[in-house]
Amino acid sequence: MRLYQATGRDFRATRFQDVRALTTALTTPLSDADATVQSMEDASPVKWHLAHTSWFFETFVLRDHVSGYQLHDERFPFLFNSYYEAEGRRHARARRGMITRPTLDEVRDYRAAVDAALLAAFPLLSSDARALVELGCHHEQQHQELLVTDILHLFSENPLEPAIWPAPPKVPVAMPGPIGWIERPEQIAEIGHAGAGFAFDCEGPRHRTLLAPHAIADRTVTNGEWQQFIADGGYRDPRHWLSDGWAWLQRERIAAPLYWEQQGDTWTRFGLDGRRAIDPAAPVTHVSFYEADAYASWAGARLPTEAEWESAATAHDPATGNQMDAAGPVEPRPSPGGPAFFGDVWEWTGSAYRPYPGFVPADGAVGEYNGKFMSGQFVLRGGSCVTPRGHVRASYRNFFYPHQRWQFTGVRLAKDV
Ligand code: AVJ
Ligand code: FE
Repeated sequence: MRLYQATGRDFRATRFQDVRALTTALTTPLSDADATVQSMEDASPVKWHLAHTSWFFETFVLRDHVSGYQLHDERFPFLFNSYYEAEGRRHARARRGMITRPTLDEVRDYRAAVDAALLAAFPLLSSDARALVELGCHHEQQHQELLVTDILHLFSENPLEPAIWPAPPKVPVAMPGPIGWIERPEQIAEIGHAGAGFAFDCEGPRHRTLLAPHAIADRTVTNGEWQQFIADGGYRDPRHWLSDGWAWLQRERIAAPLYWEQQGDTWTRFGLDGRRAIDPAAPVTHVSFYEADAYASWAGARLPTEAEWESAATAHDPATGNQMDAAGPVEPRPSPGGPAFFGDVWEWTGSAYRPYPGFVPADGAVGEYNGKFMSGQFVLRGGSCVTPRGHVRASYRNFFYPHQRWQFTGVRLAKDV
């Protein structure tokens, strides 16, 4: 049984160091208070992310593969195990913000101790253990993105709306032209990861699937286009909405993307650089699956399936586009023109996050990584402005529940032809 595809023996320790260093760098502007508070159940405190990613290496590499390794603190697994039933009981997710101790400095010491132990053990690690280090690095990159979106959500709850990463004033950019439609004939497409390089278990097995004749947009929907949807009463007309989405909208009083606020005649948004006027040319973000689906229906289109998306995106380089580099987070930017599939915003697909034909989760605790979440969630594709560059690929399947929108989530349209 294959858990994930990994490089094994060829995996380099310098890659581990680079990934760990970016996480640490992302948290430099934060105080212990910033890093401790939990703003909602879906989000975790930054301190928890810092510790949980270390727990992952400590548990699955050091404890399981390095003889004589002593846990840094025997109380930590209870605090920092996220959801692995095979690893025993754990602290309640919704109460992660109560963990004022260990302090941020003590969590940093935990990270440093795990780093030192792992680097010391690295030369002697088996191929299997190195594959787990590699998995741990991809895991940590997922948490880098979560850490940024979680701290953004926390700061949005502060009436002062502080800028986490101040940025220079924006230079207005021309609106992108109308959406270009990439027409694709009926075909049997192959999707799923194959070949060299890392992939999570849920990206395979690679398999054949039938695509109906369709067209897929060459860019994502912009803020300007979203404003037209709002102005046209899109949030007040139940005909555009799925029943669950309409109930969600009414219950939560949803009338615009998360972090949007109307100030006089201008729409503003809260972002990593504080509150600013929205850029009509930039991709819309922080919309739920329900909103994405309603927009598509208003626009006379639909969301792409994940197979349509992957088969169109395969020809493009996943390392291009607006993603997070060592300099830190960025925000979604207007499309430079021409088809672009990677970066800026995760794109909701109309596909349920379910196993591909032949998928088998691995034995043991790490088999709980992806497979057990294949219920009630939708697949998102393409990575975002806070996905660390190098993390995403054409076969990458992100997943969230249809009401969730605190990630950088946006919309690409498709239609039947
Ligand atoms: C793929 C982003 C939905 O947030 O639980 C982190 C990533 N998996 N630790 C999540 C993940 C294990 C996952 N998402
Ligand atoms: Fe995790």
